[in-house]
Amino acid sequence: MLKFLLGFVVAVVLILAVGFSYVRFGFVNPRADQPIGRLESSIAMPALDAAVDRRAPATQNPLQPTDANLIAGMKTYQSNCAGCHGDTLHPHTTFGDSFYPRVPQFAEDAPDMPENQNFFIIQHGVRLSGMPAWNPTLSEQEIWQVTTFLSHMDKLPPQVSDEWKTAAATTQSTNTDASQPASTSKKGMSMPMH
Ligand code: HEC
Repeated sequence: MLKFLLGFVVAVVLILAVGFSYVRFGFVNPRADQPIGRLESSIAMPALDAAVDRRAPATQNPLQPTDANLIAGMKTYQSNCAGCHGDTLHPHTTFGDSFYPRVPQFAEDAPDMPENQNFFIIQHGVRLSGMPAWNPTLSEQEIWQVTTFLSHMDKLPPQVSDEWKTAAATTQSTNTDASQPASTSKKGMSMPMH
């Protein structure tokens, strides 16, 4: 019995040592332009969902989805988020595909998480990904407005939808088309674009 226990402990220590050495001594590929590994997507994505589910406070969105709030959220989105997450005229950004993990493209697949979870992610960001924490940059009110916009993105009232198209048309695309030269960052965006 003692021998068995000892063998078990040695095996566990060995596995931990191999795992640590693999990571610490440079065997993990750091490149972002790699296909997302199956193991990583099957572990990391559910882990992020579970962590947000556990941590996001059960706050209620204090705003009504009025046209005014949706339009304000849309403007915040166009100037801060669309370059990565896409917009109505540029539903898929090449820039977003250059991240690891890839940036979810909201105009293709609207975010369907509960609003308190989207709010939490927007406020605090996601570590080890390109998703920044916005609480130093945006007010709580602006974050709720953009959260409201996200959860109505696939069912916008016509007036808001039209305003979004107009705003997206004047926003310079961040190379949504790989055949075009990468454009300069758009007005109001303060992120390194390439
Ligand atoms: C520099 C690129 C970049 C910018 C700018 C950016 N994001 Fe993100 N965002 C990401 C990435 C990358 C992820 C995926 C994180 C992950 O899965 O680990 C993400 C994830 C999210 C998620 C979670 C989506 C999900 O389904 O899990 C939300 C919500 C979100 N972003 C909202 C926003 C909003 C709102 C803004 C603007 C205020 C914004 N993002 C700006 C890169 C960006």
